[in-house]
Amino acid sequence: TVLVVDFGAQYAQLIARRVRECHVYSEIVPWSMPVEEMLAKKPKAIILSGGPSSVYADDAPSVPVGLFQTGVPTFGICYGFQAMAQALGGQVARTGVAEFGGTDLNVLSEGVLFAGLPAAQRVWMSHGDAVAAAPEGFAVTAATAETPVAAFEHPGKGLYGVQFHPEVLHSEHGQAVMKHFLDAAGCRPTWTMLNIVEDAVEAVRKQIGPEGRAICALSGGVDSAVAAAIVQRAIGDRLTCVFVDHGLLRKGEAEQVERDFVAATGVNLRVVDASDQFLKALEGVTEPEEKRKIIGREFIRVFEDEQRAILAGADGAVDFLVQGTLYPDVVESGGGTGTANIKSHHNVGGLPDDLAFELVEPLRTLFKDEVRRAGEELGLPAAMVWRQPFPGPGLGIRIIGAVTRERLEILREADAIAREELSRAGLDRDIWQCPVVLLADVRSVGVQGDGRTYGHPVVLRPVTSEDAMTADWARVPYDVLSRISTRITNEVREINRVVLDVTSKPPGTIEWE
Ligand code: XMP
Repeated sequence: TVLVVDFGAQYAQLIARRVRECHVYSEIVPWSMPVEEMLAKKPKAIILSGGPSSVYADDAPSVPVGLFQTGVPTFGICYGFQAMAQALGGQVARTGVAEFGGTDLNVLSEGVLFAGLPAAQRVWMSHGDAVAAAPEGFAVTAATAETPVAAFEHPGKGLYGVQFHPEVLHSEHGQAVMKHFLDAAGCRPTWTMLNIVEDAVEAVRKQIGPEGRAICALSGGVDSAVAAAIVQRAIGDRLTCVFVDHGLLRKGEAEQVERDFVAATGVNLRVVDASDQFLKALEGVTEPEEKRKIIGREFIRVFEDEQRAILAGADGAVDFLVQGTLYPDVVESGGGTGTANIKSHHNVGGLPDDLAFELVEPLRTLFKDEVRRAGEELGLPAAMVWRQPFPGPGLGIRIIGAVTRERLEILREADAIAREELSRAGLDRDIWQCPVVLLADVRSVGVQGDGRTYGHPVVLRPVTSEDAMTADWARVPYDVLSRISTRITNEVREINRVVLDVTSKPPGTIEWE
């Protein structure tokens, strides 16, 4: 294990991911964790993340006592670098000069971290004050125009540090620097997908025991699918999956679960076609929040009915509920050390808290890209593994106006065409997602064939994003947009106009409702 000590910046998760990309397992711990507790995890190496801009900042966390005397190889990044310098008798100068963004780094001597790397490289900086003098015995290995000490190391003591952020892609050789540290620390690249899946299966087998039974709600998304597939491997038919088809999925998605997923995993699946129930509850409803509440409520109703039926069939002996909680959720809700967390209870369509189940969360230690690779390892359908984000309330919040079966059909066709053309153009990995929105209460005049039409517009909302918190509209090539537009208006009779949403987030959200 490599421990990434989080000093409160958003970079800790990125560092943990980069470490794992070197096939070394990493775990994030808060800076407030006592050093003995960190050492109890038997780390092979410790990485200190960035944080406030300076050790003198008002919000600067205090570095745990003894962190630099553990004997465990330690790598300080940005704030962690300054903290290391200060703790070991170097000097941090209150320069007031700040460096942000792309900066030229001059490597003074390769040492361990820069072995074999170019003497001049672009790195990403984000700091106020700077290290003015390295602690005694440390070699200064790099500088920038503003920062005389931009990297130092003491290989004999296993201590290394850099002022820049090697974890961001804007730092040209950042990943190599990271790897050099991990190699020097003796971390072997054993964190492979096969091991990850096998470990997860083993852990689930242990948790559920030889008799236990579990249920899992499938959503059609990758997280619940991979979680279910892992549990299926561990306990076989003692897992029952429930797939609630609320009628608001996209074209082909229900089949992916009912047919392809079952074929790939052999999972024991109950499909509930609840579309009538959902549509009836949504009848005439146009207010977005009300739609969401109704869909959430109906989901719980259906799931509880199913659960009762399963319990009846299993003599009440179902003790475990499988959820696809991911590592970022665990970290963000403060449960990084394996304690229970609040958020996970609300992951599957807002399941009620009073369910008397123990949670099984086989993806708790994984990032999204790892979950996808685990899905591939488990042989799940590619369309499922690589599915872009899709909201739980589904197409219900992409029809602006009341939801009807007919409108769903129209939107489903248009959405399928857009997805098909974007995939064909090879844009799936560049685009975060592309909602297609039906303006069901808007009509405009058009001409198709020889006649006047009075149809509906659909909006294309292709966006790029890192995490859905912010987004920009994607610059999809004109010829791709043109093909989508032509095909939709040709193939979906009720649509006579295709428009493009060119709003970033903020101010616009990704979805229209
Ligand atoms: P917004 O529209 O808020 O969307 O910019 C951000 C991301 O979240 C997805 N989304 C949802 N996902 N249940 C979900 O599971 C929801 O109710 C929901 N609403 C939005 C959206 O697709 C985007 O990726």
